[in-house]
Amino acid sequence: MIEIRDLKVKMKSLEFIFEDFRFEKNKVTVISGRNGAGKTTLLRVFASFLDYEGSLKINANVTYNSQEPVIFNRTAYCNIVYPLKVRKLDISLYHDKIIEYAKLLDIEHLLENNALKLSSGEKMKVSIIRSIIFNPDIVLLDEPTTHLDLESINELTQLIKKLKSKITFIIVSHNKSFVDDLKDVEYKVGGKNVLS
Ligand SMILES: Nc1ncnc2c1ncn2[C@@H]1O[C@H](COP(=O)(O)OP(=O)(O)O)[C@@H](O)[C@H]1O
Ligand SMILES: [Mg+2]
Repeated sequence: MIEIRDLKVKMKSLEFIFEDFRFEKNKVTVISGRNGAGKTTLLRVFASFLDYEGSLKINANVTYNSQEPVIFNRTAYCNIVYPLKVRKLDISLYHDKIIEYAKLLDIEHLLENNALKLSSGEKMKVSIIRSIIFNPDIVLLDEPTTHLDLESINELTQLIKKLKSKITFIIVSHNKSFVDDLKDVEYKVGGKNVLS
């Protein structure tokens, strides 16, 4: 699915070095490493937002769910259907799925509310549904649990388990029980050079 070889990313005076790895289909891979180790950097490389050196092979479509999701000044429902609109897909065919996922994450009652007025955790749930609704091959979740309460983390865990046979998840998270519950494979990052 995603294969990296001799991958390096330069970031001002730092150079991140990533060990060779294959991210496998339908496995939940958890990316671990300390603050500043380059986890978000790696996800942004996968999402084609950053330049890199070395080899990166991706034979699938990838969606990046940021730590701080970009939310539009529209209803939660409008935010969720945005990727369907962009792809000119028939939104009515996805309505039941949206309701199903919104129920699972307990935001069904908020779908007609302005998404900018939602709490951080609710915004994250909207953003997560928006990133899975069009059935991408790979979803990159960057610290999805930060603003979620315990119950919401359990609901997100159930959603990911439900979808993992169809969608490959690559997740950055420091929440131990969330990670332990979901992780099939772990990939550690932390190699870096300080450039002079
Ligand atoms: N656009 C940028 N310009 C300069 N430095 C950056 C930029 N983005 C990230 N960094 C730095 O690169 C390091 C790795 O960042 P990041 O990948 O976000 O770490 P994390 O593993 O915590 O997700 C951090 O020290 C961060 O400050
Ligand atoms: Mg990060």
